Amino acid sequence: MGLREHVPIGIMRELHRWAAHLMVITVWLHMYRVFLTGSYKPPREFNWNVGVILLVLTLLLSFTGYLLPWDQLAVWAITVGTNMARATPFLGHEGPGAALLSIGGLDFVHAGDDVRFGLLAGRFVGEGALLRFYVLHCVGIPLAAATLMAIHFWRVRKDGGISGPL
Ligand code: HEM
Repeated sequence: MGLREHVPIGIMRELHRWAAHLMVITVWLHMYRVFLTGSYKPPREFNWNVGVILLVLTLLLSFTGYLLPWDQLAVWAITVGTNMARATPFLGHEGPGAALLSIGGLDFVHAGDDVRFGLLAGRFVGEGALLRFYVLHCVGIPLAAATLMAIHFWRVRKDGGISGPL
């Protein structure tokens, strides 16, 4: 199972793991440099917003990829991570406002249909969650990120190229 046994050239797993860490660090550094050069200001506000979504997608790639080794660390890390989604306002069954979404004792947001259930395709980290995270990691998020990166690069040119120090 996995990158180590089935992919030629035995260092693919390590390359992918290190590159993933570097990507998260690099995106944060990029955002910091864009902030320092004031490039969030007109005419680049649109590209800053595209960037914010790219940052979130990068973190989601990291999060979904963490489950894929399917070992104890992966299962329990994603258990902890997705447990936080219980407390999402209105969308998590333990979150503020969820109790308001109830009529005559009928709860609209409960453990069997809240945002955590949607993430995990179930009430706990199981086969449904693995499949969902795999498809998100390999197809869904890369497609969304690639599309936004194309827009991001196009906007860099459109907004007059990269800006220098103030
Ligand atoms: C997957 C994530 C991202 C990729 C691949 C990416 C890539 C790039 C590249 C190649 C450039 C042109 C070169 C440069 O300015 O360094 C650029 C510019 C820019 N990026 Fe990103 N970026 C990402 C995330 C972000 C984030 C998180 C932000 C901010 C929230 C952001 C905001 C901007 C802005 C405003 C510019 C224009 C900078 C200027 O013209 O001075 N990007 N991006």
